[in-house]
Amino acid sequence: MPKLIPPARVLVTGADGTLGRPTVEALADRGVAVTGLSRTWSAPTRADRVVTGDAADEDLVREALADVDAVVHLAATAHPSLDTPRAVFVGNTSATFTVLAAAGEAGVRRAVIASSINAFGVPMNRHDVKPAYYPLDEASPEAHDDAYSLSKWVDERIGAYAASRWDMTVVALRFPLVRELDVLRKTVPQMLAAPGEAARLAREGWAYLEMTDAVDAILRGLTEPVAGMHTLLVTAADTIMAEPTEDLLDRYADGVERRRTFAGRQAPVDTSAARRVLGWAPTISINAPTISIDAPTISIDDSQTLEASA
Ligand SMILES: NC(=O)c1ccc[n+]([C@@H]2O[C@H](COP(=O)([O-])OP(=O)(O)OC[C@H]3O[C@@H](n4cnc5c(N)ncnc54)[C@H](O)[C@@H]3O)[C@@H](O)[C@H]2O)c1
Repeated sequence: MPKLIPPARVLVTGADGTLGRPTVEALADRGVAVTGLSRTWSAPTRADRVVTGDAADEDLVREALADVDAVVHLAATAHPSLDTPRAVFVGNTSATFTVLAAAGEAGVRRAVIASSINAFGVPMNRHDVKPAYYPLDEASPEAHDDAYSLSKWVDERIGAYAASRWDMTVVALRFPLVRELDVLRKTVPQMLAAPGEAARLAREGWAYLEMTDAVDAILRGLTEPVAGMHTLLVTAADTIMAEPTEDLLDRYADGVERRRTFAGRQAPVDTSAARRVLGWAPTISINAPTISIDAPTISIDDSQTLEASA
């Protein structure tokens, strides 16, 4: 077993984003030094080193990796509508390759990358495709039809390549909609009011994740003593919908195989791999303050460790 040490400095790419800012805060709160990389900055950051530019710029990324022993790669164009398909796909995958390859060459042996529940392509597919089965899991068959989902799927392949080539631990987290609880409670009803949205969201299991649980998964990805590549779905235990999940599946996914039954508003998403690999479980629900507190809040200082690269 390699010697285990806590991370001293973490490079966070996309450090000014929705997920990036709370990730930087959580690391700084735990006494971990942070190098933040972003194209632009909307507000002051808690990162004690700041690198401004593109995550696909190899020289810039090499500079940003000084003294870094773990990477959280969040920088991406986070929706297919935000740029041309080519710019989304090439920009996202080029940034992921650049960051992981430069990290591997610099001796970094731990990376967490942001994937998406869209990585299997079905949720954003313009055609009438449905998941092959419920609950969704990491082996759900792919059907890619948009550049963003495809970029996330390729990002996962790049992660596996880096894990093999540099003996790196790479954790790709398949996030659903991630926001703070107050934002979720405000925006989800507006979102569901859009025609056809409840039907479309069936393809991602009406999943969401509160920000604290998302950051907890990132911290665990940095510190749990696991080796190799892991692609993990991380979603809340329940759905954003008011109706029971079985009724929703009857209405919106009739004919799709159900490999188990779902109690109440239970999300039809299997997060057991994240529990097994990271000891992670969701704790916060949009419907109630907490639903299943069986994973303690992480504290890197006290108990969590990082595999030494030696
Ligand atoms: N927040 C969510 O609901 C959600 C859901 C699924 C997946 N994700 C993934 O999580 C990651 C973070 O998402 P977010 O919601 O924080 O997105 P965001 O758009 O809020 O933040 C991304 C940040 O990265 C920056 N950025 C983009 N491309 C860059 C590049 N090439 N170089 C440097 N900076 C770059 C952007 O300027 C932005 O500040 C993304 O990879 C996204 O695909 C997010």
